[in-house]
Amino acid sequence: MVPAKAPRHFLTLNDVNKTELNAIIQRAIELKALLRAGKAPELLKDKVLAMIFEKNSTRTRVSFESGVAKLGGQAIFLSTKDSQLGRGEPIEDAARCIASMVDMVMIRTYAHTTVQRFAEYSRVPVINGLTDEYHPCQLLADIQTYVEHRGSLAGKTVAWVGDGNNMCNTYIQAAELCDFEIRIATPKGFEPEDIYVTPYKKRVKISNDPKKAVASADLVVTDTWASMGQEDEKKQREKIFSGYQVTKELMSLAKPDALFMHCLPAYRGKEVSADVLDTPDSVVWEEAENRMHAQNALMEFLLAH
Ligand code: CP
Ligand code: NVA
Repeated sequence: MVPAKAPRHFLTLNDVNKTELNAIIQRAIELKALLRAGKAPELLKDKVLAMIFEKNSTRTRVSFESGVAKLGGQAIFLSTKDSQLGRGEPIEDAARCIASMVDMVMIRTYAHTTVQRFAEYSRVPVINGLTDEYHPCQLLADIQTYVEHRGSLAGKTVAWVGDGNNMCNTYIQAAELCDFEIRIATPKGFEPEDIYVTPYKKRVKISNDPKKAVASADLVVTDTWASMGQEDEKKQREKIFSGYQVTKELMSLAKPDALFMHCLPAYRGKEVSADVLDTPDSVVWEEAENRMHAQNALMEFLLAH
């Protein structure tokens, strides 16, 4: 018997190489144009995506569910509240069963090891829809958005202001894959952990000074100060992070054509001022829409490899 081909997973951005990443982004741009012209190809006809959510979501759910439907497939939404996962069924057992009935699985969960364990037992591609450690689908959308507005990220400077969280860790991986420098400014004690930084040391500059990070940057990015799972720390974090809001004044230190991105949901008056979020430099709404196009291209890629 010919052994089944190992599925191609997307658990971190490093699951694709530079050439593949570039191809996915170009395809995302192409698919976006086709979808907008009402000419969506039936790439996922007869395909089913299972979506497992252990954390809340607006964009990730809608982008995957709508994206799959537009390409002719179907998506199944599973939450821990109404599946056996919430009652303690081992992830390995769930993986074997779910993967035997669908063509792809997307998971949003807490520990990154959960998606790794699921992938190990899954015979179909597994996509990370956010873990405490990484958010690679968001980076596909961010890269697509930058490329559409300003071209390649190669040689550019990206400023990350705020928490050294899952988005920050994923931006560090993107810096290597897309050849840019990332300047990170976090309060003391909230820097990304060494394991996420050390392999990419040459690409990363870390400080506790937002002005230093943003000076002459091509792209300024932030995210919530309290990620999902950190709700109890929200009030305390608001005090600690108060000097890290992306304001018009801070944006004025970046390059005149610098863009602003935020994966959303955004908290106006906390990590970003309302006027920054709603200026033309802010591409957050397109960034959100691009989740769907980038993931459509990703799903096509994973099924083809
Ligand atoms: N950016 C993002 O992942 O949004 P949701 O949490 O709404 O899915
Ligand atoms: N860092 C945030 C991103 C939300 C899309 C979180 O993990 O909650």
